[in-house]
Amino acid sequence: MSDRGQWKSEFGFVLAAVGSAIGLGNIWRFSYMAYENGGGAFMIPYIFALLTAGIPLLILEFGIGHERIGSAPLAFAKINRRWEWLGWWAVIFVMFGIVLYYTVIIAWCLNFFKYSFTLAWGDDTQKFFLEEFLQLSDSPFPTGNVRTPIIVSLAIIWFLNWAIVYRGVQKGIETANKIFMPLLFILTAILVFWSLTLDGAGAGIEAYLKPDFSKITKPKVWIDAYSQIFFTLSLGFGIMITYASYLPAKSNITKSAFTIALINSGFSIFAGLATFSVLGYMALQQGVNVDDVVKETIILAFVAYPKAMTLLPGGNVFGAIFFFSLVVAGLSSSISIIEAFVSAVVDKFGVNRQALITYTAVFGFLGSVVFTTQSGLLWLDIVDHFITTYGLIVVGILECILVGWLFKFELIKKHINKVSSIHVGTIWGFLIRFFVPVILLIILIFNLVTELSQPYENYSWTSLILIGRDWLLATLVAGFLIASRPWKTERHKEEGRAS
Ligand code: PHE
Repeated sequence: MSDRGQWKSEFGFVLAAVGSAIGLGNIWRFSYMAYENGGGAFMIPYIFALLTAGIPLLILEFGIGHERIGSAPLAFAKINRRWEWLGWWAVIFVMFGIVLYYTVIIAWCLNFFKYSFTLAWGDDTQKFFLEEFLQLSDSPFPTGNVRTPIIVSLAIIWFLNWAIVYRGVQKGIETANKIFMPLLFILTAILVFWSLTLDGAGAGIEAYLKPDFSKITKPKVWIDAYSQIFFTLSLGFGIMITYASYLPAKSNITKSAFTIALINSGFSIFAGLATFSVLGYMALQQGVNVDDVVKETIILAFVAYPKAMTLLPGGNVFGAIFFFSLVVAGLSSSISIIEAFVSAVVDKFGVNRQALITYTAVFGFLGSVVFTTQSGLLWLDIVDHFITTYGLIVVGILECILVGWLFKFELIKKHINKVSSIHVGTIWGFLIRFFVPVILLIILIFNLVTELSQPYENYSWTSLILIGRDWLLATLVAGFLIASRPWKTERHKEEGRAS
């Protein structure tokens, strides 16, 4: 068992899980979502979703990984052999879906980090980003040319991912996060306190946090809250199961889950202060309302923010810190995905871990190339939409059914309580067995209905089907195929910790 790798300390595990949870999503997805969904009032559905789904599922995934001692496919196989595919599906769609485009966005951040020093984006940041940097095409097909500056940074990002994961759980991932997380917190604190001193910051913060309670009666706001919590805690990725499997036998699982969830959400709310102070400053400089300068996700980071940097004294330093923080936050998440995949393959096929990591990095890099083409942003948008709105949610539902209803619920619950200081009881059981699967099912149905009523973002149906649906289905087929292969190790026969 010990040859599976182990964290040096529980604290190291907490940092690594926080590293996975805090990613690009916390910086650009959360604050925009709060703004759009009622500002301060959004905290109500958000915190509710955290308490009723985020933390309970995090505890469940930790419990599964820790008790069964395995990556997602191994842990599920040790729950019931017929369910191994579910673990494979998760680690495959994150490895051959999410991480392929996620690394490309980190690569853009690296490019923009470099551009910051000279404010190379000039005055028209939208034109710069879309027309000069991405040279964006009108539709996903044909893909257009590979953009050289992007593929160069992409190679660096994959190299860094490789270098960290290659060194192993303790020396690689744990050590990297012990550097990355404090660094990220310091850099973010600098950005927040700096931005709060800017003229107009108050108006920005007001737009971000002023509660508009009329919004929270809308179902979409609740759906957004649950989806964000799910994504931000890296649930349904197979990551948290894998990370928990590296914990020593005596580990306070529930306490860690609460700590991780608290740091992750606290970070999101805190980082949003910088985003909106800067937007408030920019609105004041341009003599417009804050509402006119707020932009969504990618455009927020690569168009609105650079624009603000050109107006801000010392904007080049601010911009450099901002994009560097994104690179750090991104890397600590991407390594967690690679680890979840590598760990799964090693568990099942007993292959040489380091050689596998090298192959994975090379193929990962090659797989990312399509997202560095002129239509990369469109591909990324479609793949991301399908994987996060369907893949993750379906895994979440099935996880609850598998453990909550079919197998080993009492065993895992007992194990969690045996090792943890905060005990789980009837409420947790209710949430895992009834509440979470029902909520996720409602979200799934809502998403499906929206999907079919109009093509997502007005892409052609052909591109949505080929790039979105089929990509996800291909990973599902791959999951079944790998699950049907015989085990090359004996690990699936080993006992869990409690049985
Ligand atoms: N929690 C991450 C985020 O908010 C999501 C993620 C995890 C993405 C791991 C990629 C890899 O950005």
